[in-house]
Amino acid sequence: MPEAGRPAARLGMRITTANTSPLRASADVLVVTVAKPPTLEGVAAEIDSALGGTISDLIKAGEIRGARGQVTLVHAGSGVRARRIAVAGLGKAAEGDAVRHAAAAAARAATTARAKTLAFAVDTVPLDRDLASRCLVEGAVLGEYRFDRFRSGPAKERPSRLDTVTLLNGKRRATERAGVVAEAVNRARDLQNTPSNHLGPDGLAERARAIAAAHKTVTTTVNDRRFLERKKMGAFLAVAAAGGPDPALITLRHRPAKPAKGVMLGLVGKGLTFDTGGYSLKPARSMTGMKFDMSGAAAVLEATAAIAELDLPIEVVTVVGAVENLVSATGMRPDDIVTAANGKTIEITNTDAEGRLVLADCLYHARAQGATHVVDLATLTGAMIVALGDMHAGVFGRDDAFVERVETAGELGGEHVWRMPLHDTYKRFMRSDVADMRNASTAGKGGACYAARFLQEFAGDGPWAHLDIAGVADIDTDRGDGLAKGGSGWGVRLLVELAQSLC
Ligand code: BES
Ligand code: MN
Ligand code: ZN
Repeated sequence: MPEAGRPAARLGMRITTANTSPLRASADVLVVTVAKPPTLEGVAAEIDSALGGTISDLIKAGEIRGARGQVTLVHAGSGVRARRIAVAGLGKAAEGDAVRHAAAAAARAATTARAKTLAFAVDTVPLDRDLASRCLVEGAVLGEYRFDRFRSGPAKERPSRLDTVTLLNGKRRATERAGVVAEAVNRARDLQNTPSNHLGPDGLAERARAIAAAHKTVTTTVNDRRFLERKKMGAFLAVAAAGGPDPALITLRHRPAKPAKGVMLGLVGKGLTFDTGGYSLKPARSMTGMKFDMSGAAAVLEATAAIAELDLPIEVVTVVGAVENLVSATGMRPDDIVTAANGKTIEITNTDAEGRLVLADCLYHARAQGATHVVDLATLTGAMIVALGDMHAGVFGRDDAFVERVETAGELGGEHVWRMPLHDTYKRFMRSDVADMRNASTAGKGGACYAARFLQEFAGDGPWAHLDIAGVADIDTDRGDGLAKGGSGWGVRLLVELAQSLC
């Protein structure tokens, strides 16, 4: 885990509200948002006149245009207590995503200028104060994130990290809640970005234990290979057969004092800390980035931590299948036939379709633990990336009401999902001549849909939704939302909203 001499984790950022006037708030950077085209009214106009009209001059000169994500830093004079003003553009459609983007861009600009304290003039945001508070916090916390654990240069020469984010005239509850959730997103990003030689299945298990130790409503169990054998989890075991780090079946439970009756939310995450493809080896170009194949696990673990921290009154059981898909003499081979925990037999036609094997037994396990509603998150298929790109995760499920609930939870959290089909006839693509099914189709089309159809065989009865997050889990090109490259922590916000909606 952390290198010697480095802190295990940075001390938490302070995320607060204050009723101080923006003119009197002391901060390294005070953020004012402007739409496109920019007009200065109310608080923004007051700040402008306190600065002697600098902002309106820059607007007239065309330097500040209010374009979404554009940030202009202005050094403040004596009329304003903050050291600098950041004018952050919202673009034409000033909705939640635009506010998140503006806040993220402002936080990045501020930390590049080595600011430690950031304040937002919430009244300059054209949304209701609840939503504005939430989007500003999410944007700022996610935007200032940097993964610099492995940089050895002097910290002084790197961008700073924020100590304090203050929402001037923000809504307190919304601010604090968003702070808890956004910090959970960043912890998920840390897990994602950490490479396999520093975070294997045991690292995920260690994180689960730490979550349980930190919250009195949470307990955890980490099961080893022997347990998988006893439970006849032949699909999971097939992936673990190559050896390497020991596999771990991680179960976390959140049991609040007064949970909603009749609901136990099951969160299942794919935790492949590396995926080489196995004997169906990935070409070198597709193998880099496969440290991110545990992104589903990162999301469900940190969502569980946030749910516990918020003390949401709902029982949750979280299941992570943590393992690596490696190559060795003991590894599963194409043509092998394995038996999953639910008794179904699977012909291995492609060892690179390993995620669905692990998830098959994890879904079964989640139901066996009593989950009434199940949602799984997995970087499952390259086909998902081809289909939807990097802004929407695909959601699959047969229970319309539950899928809609997942869609709504995503929208609230700024994590967009798009419904994908799960037609029963897709079964034909997994027909096997020798077993109940095979793990990969050779159709060369609809790969994300067939993978989902495979999972359905193991999802049991009751509402279930599958989120294929292969396209959204890690970002390699600027998505135009102010998020850094690398792990996005995708799913944490959606899952917290989903849990809340079931309370
Ligand atoms: N982890 C991959 C999916 C993936 C690919 C995620 C690229 C992120 C980026 C998964 O285990 C996989 O290899 N899927 C195969 C399935 C195929 C063999 C049926 C794929 O998508 O190629
Ligand atoms: Mn694979
Ligand atoms: Zn994989």
